[in-house]
Amino acid sequence: MYPFLLVTHLLAAIAFIGTLFFEVFIWHSARQQLANGGQLMADQAIAMRSRKVLHGVVLLLYGAGIGLAWQYRGVLSQPLASSFGTLLSLKIVLALSIIGHYLLLAYWLKSARLTSTRASWIRRSILGHMLLIVILAKAMFYWQG
Ligand code: HEM
Repeated sequence: MYPFLLVTHLLAAIAFIGTLFFEVFIWHSARQQLANGGQLMADQAIAMRSRKVLHGVVLLLYGAGIGLAWQYRGVLSQPLASSFGTLLSLKIVLALSIIGHYLLLAYWLKSARLTSTRASWIRRSILGHMLLIVILAKAMFYWQG
């Protein structure tokens, strides 16, 4: 079961990070080449499609993550006792903070306060979180402080 969860977790992480990478580093400037009306339509089409696909991806990512973390519940019950426990706990806190970002995004969207500047800063922050999460996910196995 563990290898299956690990591969699912890794593939979902790649899909999630790849989507955000596309939005921040490719689409953000590529859209400038379209006329104003075209930009808006393409923005909406990409946002609608990525929201739909990401729902499934996020469920797999977090679901598999919880399954993996269950194996380390002993370590996680004393997060400060080992560097592995500390780094894994920090990684989980950052993953929860990403959920917080999406809740804020949903709140702004609902209350019609989501400007394009806010949307792009939220995306950058999520991508930054992910970068740290991946570094922590690897460091926790190799860094014995
Ligand atoms: C945005 C969310 C997340 C991302 C991008 C992410 C990414 C990753 C990556 C890249 C790895 C390394 C996998 C490998 O090299 O084989 C990993 C491992 C791990 N993740 Fe996550 N993760 C996320 C959320 C979570 C959550 C919410 C949990 C638990 C509640 C979690 C628990 C774990 C555990 C326990 C491992 C170690 C697995 C092992 O190698 O034994 N992750 N994660």
